[in-house]
Amino acid sequence: MRNVIVAPSILAADFSRLGDEIHQVEAAGADWIHCDIMDGHFVDNISFGPEFVRQVRKQTSLPLDVHLMIEHADHYVTRFVKAGSKSITVHVEPESKHEVSKTLTHIRDAGCRTGLTLNPETPFELVESFLGNVDILLVMTVYPGFGGQPFRADQMEKVRRAATWNQSQEHKIDIEVDGGITPTTARISLENGANVLVAGTSIFHSKDYAKVIRELRGE
Ligand code: DX5
Ligand code: ZN
Repeated sequence: MRNVIVAPSILAADFSRLGDEIHQVEAAGADWIHCDIMDGHFVDNISFGPEFVRQVRKQTSLPLDVHLMIEHADHYVTRFVKAGSKSITVHVEPESKHEVSKTLTHIRDAGCRTGLTLNPETPFELVESFLGNVDILLVMTVYPGFGGQPFRADQMEKVRRAATWNQSQEHKIDIEVDGGITPTTARISLENGANVLVAGTSIFHSKDYAKVIRELRGE
């Protein structure tokens, strides 16, 4: 079994003391910091942009895992690279209005890890042909746009298909799940083959970040 990576989503953090929140999850054993970027077009919510990510970068040495839920991702890639992203994940749906392979090449050429993601109703087939060209497949286990929604177990089929794909490859991609991840749904995701867990509410709305992060890992 691969090492489990826990990536707290700061969308659920208290922004009025963001630095503290980041230091606390880092001390609690987080591996990556997940940054959710929403533009009010691709998803029905607005979060934060590159300048905010640059501020997050100053607070931690953990890798920043940037999830772009925006239209025209390619146009913004350079700004998120400069802000200090380690990995940049983009959506595959036509509504995200970019040329997926071109954006992935742009991200890779800029020195970042590449990620591709798909909404719950988007079939796995849409990402399949790109898997050889990404480092991360992010399987959305809720509809993107808001934290605090219930986990959709029906998305585990995509996790299993990605895990099967990995078996035939030398270069393994990270299989990341995002949305409604709690210790219970983390276990389900790991059993199906995921190795990266994004969790917002279950960590930041808890009293003991270290305890939840250990539980997410199944410890
Ligand atoms: C949803 C975001 C998620 C979200 C997860 O649009 O991509 O990263 O912050 O939040 P929870 O863990 O609260 O479901
Ligand atoms: Zn996310």
